Amino acid sequence: MAEFHFVEDYERWVAHLIEAHPIDEAMSLAVGGDFERIGKIELDILKAAGLTSSMSIFDLGCGSGRLSYYLSRSGFEGEFLGTDVVQSLLDYAASRTPANYKFVMHRALSVPAEDASIDIACAFSVFTHLLHHESYLYMEDMLRVLKPGGKLVFSFLEFCSDDHWDYAFVPTVDAQRTGRPGHLNTFIERSVIEIWGRKLGFELERFIDGGESSGAAGPLGQATAILRRPTSK
Ligand SMILES: C[S@@+](CC[C@H](N)C(=O)[O-])C[C@H]1O[C@@H](n2cnc3c(N)ncnc32)[C@H](O)[C@@H]1O
Repeated sequence: MAEFHFVEDYERWVAHLIEAHPIDEAMSLAVGGDFERIGKIELDILKAAGLTSSMSIFDLGCGSGRLSYYLSRSGFEGEFLGTDVVQSLLDYAASRTPANYKFVMHRALSVPAEDASIDIACAFSVFTHLLHHESYLYMEDMLRVLKPGGKLVFSFLEFCSDDHWDYAFVPTVDAQRTGRPGHLNTFIERSVIEIWGRKLGFELERFIDGGESSGAAGPLGQATAILRRPTSK
């Protein structure tokens, strides 16, 4: 399958952060910052999607391990597989989690897992940086690896949110206007997610608003979609 488009830019940016900051700070900044708060919120969202301690979890674009770190401290005893396109982020995530957590460099638009082997597949702040057809291909392969009844959980940006407009769309437009385009920020409307889900054969479980809390850690900011592989598929 095709390779992801801005791997080299991302690697350069992470290398720059590592040079300019202490390692914990660099690894937090590389995934958008706020390592502790966001990690706990992502864990709360998986719990809201039905996470139990013996499940098999796949984390697309796991980065430096905001989710895996807090998952490992939560009493979780299942299996964890995280993929990313930047090796230094994977190495850092592995260094902060138990040895049985798997972190794999994977640059294809697919999931390196067996058919029907995963209970929850998630992607936090990842489809927000991909082209629509790339996210769609990941969703297609996530359906393949999910067990019947398994969940797909991913965060997204939407135009109806003033927050998303202000912190993601306006800076992207300004960067384009001034000839300094940065990394891609992609919006995905709920109607689009409904169509993709239907075309692929997912059942839509629900959306979580960006301002809605799933637990004590508070709201994620980005909205979240929870889809389900039908039990009959
Ligand atoms: C904003 S960070 C979020 C990291 C992590 N999901 C979290 O919430 O802490 C986006 C991550 O996606 C990774 N990424 C970008 N494109 C990817 C792709 N095609 N496949 C896997 N990971 C990707 C980046 O390297 C980065 O670590």
